[in-house]
Amino acid sequence: MRVAIIGSGPAGFYAAEALLRRTDTVVHVDMFDRLPTPYGLVRGGVAPDHQNIKAVTRVFEKTAARPTFRFLGNVCLGRDLTVADLRQHYHQIVYAVGNEADRRLGIPCEGIARCTPVAVFIGWYNGHPDYRHAKIDLSVSRVAVVGNGNVAIDAARILLCTPAELEKTDIAAHALEALRNSRVREVYILGRRGPEQASFTPPELKEFGEMENVDPVVDPEELAGCVIPQTAGNTQQEKNLKILQSYAARQPDAKAKKLHFRFRVSPTEVIAGADGKVAGLALEKNRLEVQPDGTVRARGTGEIEVLDVGMVLPAIGFAAERIAGIPYDEKARVIANEDGRVVDPVSRTAIANEYVVGWARTGPQGLIGSHKGASAHVVEYMIADGAGLEARELPEREAIDSLLRARGIQVVSFDDWKQLDDVEVARGARRGAPRDKIVDVEAMLGTLRQGL
Ligand SMILES: Cc1cc2nc3c(=O)[nH]c(=O)nc-3n(C[C@H](O)[C@H](O)[C@H](O)COP(=O)(O)OP(=O)(O)OC[C@H]3O[C@@H](n4cnc5c(N)ncnc54)[C@H](O)[C@@H]3O)c2cc1C
Ligand SMILES: NC(=O)c1ccc[n+]([C@@H]2O[C@H](COP(=O)([O-])OP(=O)(O)OC[C@H]3O[C@@H](n4cnc5c(N)ncnc54)[C@H](OP(=O)(O)O)[C@@H]3O)[C@@H](O)[C@H]2O)c1
Repeated sequence: MRVAIIGSGPAGFYAAEALLRRTDTVVHVDMFDRLPTPYGLVRGGVAPDHQNIKAVTRVFEKTAARPTFRFLGNVCLGRDLTVADLRQHYHQIVYAVGNEADRRLGIPCEGIARCTPVAVFIGWYNGHPDYRHAKIDLSVSRVAVVGNGNVAIDAARILLCTPAELEKTDIAAHALEALRNSRVREVYILGRRGPEQASFTPPELKEFGEMENVDPVVDPEELAGCVIPQTAGNTQQEKNLKILQSYAARQPDAKAKKLHFRFRVSPTEVIAGADGKVAGLALEKNRLEVQPDGTVRARGTGEIEVLDVGMVLPAIGFAAERIAGIPYDEKARVIANEDGRVVDPVSRTAIANEYVVGWARTGPQGLIGSHKGASAHVVEYMIADGAGLEARELPEREAIDSLLRARGIQVVSFDDWKQLDDVEVARGARRGAPRDKIVDVEAMLGTLRQGL
């Protein structure tokens, strides 16, 4: 059976591994990615100072070394290749395209300069080619990060790291340079609900207390009345609360940069200064309401304050991009699916032999490891649905390469990627870093054309 997997992030790689290790069927996998580099958010999302997490790429390298696997990088579905092309050349298709669109606050002036979706900031410091020219103006002293998830935590931490903490990481060289000259002294992390509802995880929260030059600040008032129900399953909340309580009890260090935690506030308007850039953020105080189903909702009280910040980074989640030819669920903002089988969004009938895994299936929730079981689960459907499919005659395997060549696409193989990897690692060694990323697609392709 021949399968196309679109997207080389964790979900795509775990799906490939689950297909390739089958002993009942021989599966040939062609994995496409719009970038010349594999690994999705492991390369372009995971924070540069969390190198241990990136070690998962060694597992994906083993998958890539399997004889019936091929990587076809620098091929974008919807631009270089259509869904119709895939249907012609493959028995089954797996969409593993992640969540590359931002969610918006939907408040006035959200689009002005220095109000920057967190995906742009993260892509910029991680050297994602799409964001290498992003305008990240760090001449301001105070920044608000909206959201209480781990992405908000990552963004705040990178803003507050010292150059010494950053230079031994694989942060993009342009970001390292800009952060060396950063004037940011205070960051506010803003949660619309309370500390008990925050989705950041204790190890990530705890890191702020261990940084070189950061004072985590919590007003004890923010924690007043917080109650963690003593039932099973609340360990994360309990640990978070304990960490926040320890921050509230800390003696302030006058010289350190400050990280302020604020809860039960929602942005209502980005305030523009005379230069048209962010000059403040209007916040409405919330009260929390327990719903009949037990969930807790934030409701505005009408009480407004203006936070004096010069930059706003909304970190409130992501959504799948729409790709021509793939059914889209407008409400959930993912590829329309029933448990991983792609469906028509209206009739909910399955589109035969098309599947979706990872964040494109579920939305932006879950750690890298969670995709292993989730992708394998969808592969079980593929195997069940695929019985006898291999009898359908396809063009020869390399026909897709000829098609792409004819369209002027320089396809990047896994061996090509390994060459780029070697170049990046050698460049990084010069500054004592694990790698120094090439951030420009043309530069990557040029490097490969010149045979390095
Ligand atoms: C900032 C950030 C930090 C994170 N840090 C951690 C962490 O420390 N630990 C942890 O466990 N989890 C972390 N996560 C979560 C983890 O990264 C995700 O769970 C995981 O990457 C989602 O996998 P995926 O394969 O669905 O999507 P992705 O990893 O996003 O991969 C999608 C791939 O599809 C490709 N693609 C998209 N569109 C097309 C197209 N049209 N044609 C071809 N290719 C396409 C993309 O280039 C990309 O390579 C983090 C997430 C973010 C956003
Ligand atoms: N180090 C790590 O392990 C790491 C690092 C980064 C990401 N990740 C993982 O990647 C996934 C995505 O992370 P994430 O931080 O983007 O998602 P998340 O955990 O869902 O956090 C999103 C935050 O945005 C808030 N929010 C949503 N809409 C809002 C609005 N209109 N106004 C104000 N706040 C709003 C949410 O508040 P409500 O709760 O009130 O909705 C929540 O606090 C998670 O599974 C995360 O654990 C892991």
